[in-house]
Amino acid sequence: MNASSNPIEISFELAASRCADLTPLVYRRLFEEHPDTQAMFRSDGGDLVMGSMLALTIEAILDFAGERHGHFRLIACEVASHDGYGTPRELFIAFFAVIRDALRDLLGDEWSAEIAQAWERLLVELDAFTAATG
Ligand code: HEM
Repeated sequence: MNASSNPIEISFELAASRCADLTPLVYRRLFEEHPDTQAMFRSDGGDLVMGSMLALTIEAILDFAGERHGHFRLIACEVASHDGYGTPRELFIAFFAVIRDALRDLLGDEWSAEIAQAWERLLVELDAFTAATG
């Protein structure tokens, strides 16, 4: 993987070097912080949906925080479709903070002030972006 200077990318790269799959970490935290969400995922095939939802979300975050080629547009589409799944915007947005917090715990000492600030800014921008499109 090429060395990156984007703190958001760096945070995911560091996480990938410590943990092959973020899925259990992220959803454990989501279900702890927002217990209602567990029942929202189907019991059959729910694991696949959860893994795929996280992978697509990370792809969209990296694009949104980086080059903005187009993957970030998924976020706007999904605000609307999640409304249909019964996920209000506040909860939808909470998923991004859950991912940030899971990375922060995983990185420990490697969670630098620069990475923390970049994530803080990113969450504010995502909030504004979904408010504008939702
Ligand atoms: C706490 C917040 C969220 C909850 C509770 C939630 C819940 C769900 C649920 C229940 C499904 C499955 C729908 C079905 O049965 O087919 C789903 C699918 C999906 N979600 Fe979320 N979602 C959240 C946030 C997000 C965010 C922030 C994104 C991305 C920007 C996202 C992207 C997707 C995508 C792409 C799928 C389809 C996955 C697939 O079937 O391959 N979700 N979500």
